[in-house]
Amino acid sequence: MLIKRNQRWEMPESEVTSENIYCQRRTLLKAAGYTLALGTFSPLSAIAATAGFPSQLNSSYNGKDLTPTKENLVTSYNNFYEFSFDKDGVVSKAKDFKTEPWTLKITGMVQNPQTFDVNELVKKVGIEQRIYRFRCVEAWSMVVPWDGFPLKKLLDLVQPTSQAKYVKFVAFNDPESAPGQVIAPHYPWPYTEGLTIEEAANELTLLATGIYGKPMPNQNGAPIRLVVPWKYGFKSIKSITKIEFTDKMPPTLWNTTAPSEYGFYANVNPEVDHPRWSQKSEKIVGSWFQRKPTVQFNGYGTEVAHLYKKLDLSKWY
Ligand code: MTE
Repeated sequence: MLIKRNQRWEMPESEVTSENIYCQRRTLLKAAGYTLALGTFSPLSAIAATAGFPSQLNSSYNGKDLTPTKENLVTSYNNFYEFSFDKDGVVSKAKDFKTEPWTLKITGMVQNPQTFDVNELVKKVGIEQRIYRFRCVEAWSMVVPWDGFPLKKLLDLVQPTSQAKYVKFVAFNDPESAPGQVIAPHYPWPYTEGLTIEEAANELTLLATGIYGKPMPNQNGAPIRLVVPWKYGFKSIKSITKIEFTDKMPPTLWNTTAPSEYGFYANVNPEVDHPRWSQKSEKIVGSWFQRKPTVQFNGYGTEVAHLYKKLDLSKWY
């Protein structure tokens, strides 16, 4: 995705587009191979956080007008740069990554800083299933049934102080397990992301520990990842180890790497193109010759538009 000109990590737009088609070809071939070999294809990872399953579908987010993307596509077409820069290379490179036990540290401007084992945290707060649209900045989209819990439940446990204005999320840093961190030492690892405290407390924002009613596969961000469905997918950081509450807007991996291309807010917005491609429409993963118009806030304006009254819609990205 994501990357700027005249640098080692630059990728032209033509490559982004052709890669999608290329990956689709390989994904289909692979899926056909697995189907022949196994009867079904579901590249599930080793053990992830298993607490809380089976989860109940939350009827307020049952995706009644949405058709979930096929599971084998969601679990094989991935962006996870710690492991691979090829979408279809993540599954194999992440398969032995150890995600249990896994601790999540909550720190910074909170009244109750805590370190949780992810399974123990899930036992405290429970999980539910929600079906959300998921839109990548590369202009493809999916519909994913996530299992997890509202981030707000964690905020209630740790009690941010009144000084906390932002939330910083930090993924793991382990080059011995993650080949992408070795081949791209120029990236500011670990992957970091951020939200405002209001975004973090929004009813839609999830910490997900699974998809399709099963523990999160490694390639999708085991054991715990963020899901922010009205923002471009790069905000939904995977394999989180630390959440820090702060009074300063946190620098993020993409915003630091290519500030002219990736903003902090990164709300889905068909009116503002990426500098290298249009955001007006999106390719539907699984039906590659079909595009659909992109919707402001990825269709979640009712829930989130009030957060951005003071931002200039024609500028923010
Ligand atoms: N989180 C980490 N730690 N590392 C990454 O490279 N990629 C992001 C996001 N979270 C990424 C990450 C991007 S660019 C996208 S589009 C989504 O994860 C992809 O999620 P998926 O593979 O589950 O579809």
